[in-house]
Amino acid sequence: MTHTMTEATTDPSSLTDRYSAHNYAPLPVVVAEASGVWVTDVNGRSYLDMLAGYSALNFGHRHPRLVDAARRQLERVTLVSRAFDHDQFGPFCAELAELAGMEMVLPMNTGAEAVETGIKVARKWGYTVRGVPHDEAVIVVFDGNFHGRTTTIVSFSSDPDAREDFGPYTPGFVSVPYGDLSALSDVLASSDVGPRVVAVLVEPIQGEAGVVVPPPGFLAGVRSLCSLNGALMIADEIQSGLGRTGFTFACSAEGVVPDAYLLGKALGGGIVPVSAMVSSRAVLGVLRPGQHGSTFGGNPLACAVAREVIAMLRDGSLVQRSAELGTRMHARLRTLPSSAVSRVDGRGLWAGVSFASVGGREVCERLARLGVLAKETHGNTIRLAPPLIITDAELDWAMDRVEAALTS
Ligand SMILES: Cc1ncc(COP(=O)(O)O)c(C=O)c1O
Repeated sequence: MTHTMTEATTDPSSLTDRYSAHNYAPLPVVVAEASGVWVTDVNGRSYLDMLAGYSALNFGHRHPRLVDAARRQLERVTLVSRAFDHDQFGPFCAELAELAGMEMVLPMNTGAEAVETGIKVARKWGYTVRGVPHDEAVIVVFDGNFHGRTTTIVSFSSDPDAREDFGPYTPGFVSVPYGDLSALSDVLASSDVGPRVVAVLVEPIQGEAGVVVPPPGFLAGVRSLCSLNGALMIADEIQSGLGRTGFTFACSAEGVVPDAYLLGKALGGGIVPVSAMVSSRAVLGVLRPGQHGSTFGGNPLACAVAREVIAMLRDGSLVQRSAELGTRMHARLRTLPSSAVSRVDGRGLWAGVSFASVGGREVCERLARLGVLAKETHGNTIRLAPPLIITDAELDWAMDRVEAALTS
């Protein structure tokens, strides 16, 4: 049956409900505008944004430096496709490679595309450099992972909602428990799978799983097992990277340098989708023209905004602020009553808080009524990830409301 717009109400939420696929269950807040850490709904009510676009808004909403960079580029050129070079592309790649201490960059748009890029490049590297027999490459991943929504990526998800009904699944992945070095070591040592492992794909902190920090030494252990077995360590820093944890890269908390970073979210400054695989010449150099690409990947507008993001990170003060405010936030979270809170985890301005007897969704609804936006990850866990530009007073204000939500 078809409907005309005149039959439908013009209330935005009803239109969403009627015309948008129901692949999300949003909180009942309809945002009209936003600035810094604050968003305002269509009724003029303000909320402090403690989700920050799942860390895509690390610099807050419409940061003036990023808006200026976008505006300047809008007046020049926005899209050429990779059929031609443009004057923002080389500088963007050079500046991002330098920030990451790497040699080459392959830009895409969404996080999932960066992950797909990592998978393709690791396989090709495995066949052409490591000499793994064709079509036999294995990538080790971890239970509880979240790397995106494509058919290949959901093939190795352990979340039934993400995976069920979307098969047939892409082969070539083995999953082991997160944080379990001996399980990883066993896979790498097995005579059947071990020699075919081309990469280990790891989130330095598992975001969607509930902001789960692995045991100390885990990332360093993954690094050394990868080096020993000739497998690439690919760090998915799409959510953990670019300042969120008080480090530019979350791997740095353990002094670990992977073979490749996958970046996204905050790289686009909350304005445009920008993602990238950043690695060495030995790894990204395996690609030849025609083997991978994207019409929008590395477009001039994306590069101009991302260059400003990189400049803001390079200066170091925001990352430092994330570390300091993170300490403040975690100290406060640790004072929440243990009768109500069963777990607090995270690093920097990033926390997963699990509740003993109330669902995460219920807490988020209470928080929204109190003027704070947050989102549950799974079940009884919520994630707190404010923009890194939040002030001490704003953070304290939000923490007061988290406390109130637990007692209301
Ligand atoms: C660690 C990680 N990787 C990949 C993705 C996928 O990014 P996108 O939603 O931009 O495809 C996400 C998104 O939440 C993520 O947290």
